[in-house]
Amino acid sequence: MAEAHIDIPGYSKRVTVIDHPMVQHKLTILRNKDTGSKKFRELIKELAMFEGYEATRHFQLEPTMVKTPICETISYTLKGRKVAVVPILRAGLGMVEGILELIPAARVGHVGLYRDPKTHMPVEYYCKLPDDIETREVLIVDPMLATGGSACAAIEFLKAEGVPAHQIRLLVIIAAPEGIQAVVETDPGVNIYTCAIDDHLDEHAYIIPGLGDAGDRIFGTK
Ligand code: PRP
Ligand code: URA
Repeated sequence: MAEAHIDIPGYSKRVTVIDHPMVQHKLTILRNKDTGSKKFRELIKELAMFEGYEATRHFQLEPTMVKTPICETISYTLKGRKVAVVPILRAGLGMVEGILELIPAARVGHVGLYRDPKTHMPVEYYCKLPDDIETREVLIVDPMLATGGSACAAIEFLKAEGVPAHQIRLLVIIAAPEGIQAVVETDPGVNIYTCAIDDHLDEHAYIIPGLGDAGDRIFGTK
């Protein structure tokens, strides 16, 4: 795919594209219009887990003693990181299970946003976050980053709840250049993880080539 056109110097420092061959293979199946909802959900979960590994790469470790069947040795465990996964409803729900398999102790918050079909602006309809959200590493999950309106609204919401930008990570499956630009402009402190940066948005603000409507494909609503 051609280099995405994003008008922000150094934006790539904020964006991690998961270019692992297994991820790219699964993404191709996900894009295929003939992939049904069951398989689609399985793939979204798997890809979310892959992204979860990348998005937690900065977590610190501390040494601990462990007895193997052979001898005692120093090994490493995570150093007290508290995590919240925050799906943007509806489609973000499809990514939650993958993250929870990786981080079972993570708390789950929900942000309900839908895009107005005419204006493409996000409309908020629900929000429930863990009480101590400002103390947590927050992984916002949503398969699609199109105009970026939904993601930016979720980021602003979390910041208003006291979460510093450096504690927020946005995990998407496909990003449009327009969406990346919008998020980096909203807050350059938020890191983005994606399996692909696609070409552009169409006149309905759908990602091209994309995968269609993620929510409808996860929940079989169309
Ligand atoms: C989709 C998607 C994102 C949003 C992306 O949700 O899951 O939340 O669109 O578009 P944006 O970057 O232009 O805001 P949608 O509004 O279709 O709602 P749904 O998940 O309930 O289907
Ligand atoms: N939301 C989707 O589900 N798909 C797109 O291509 C854009 C927004």
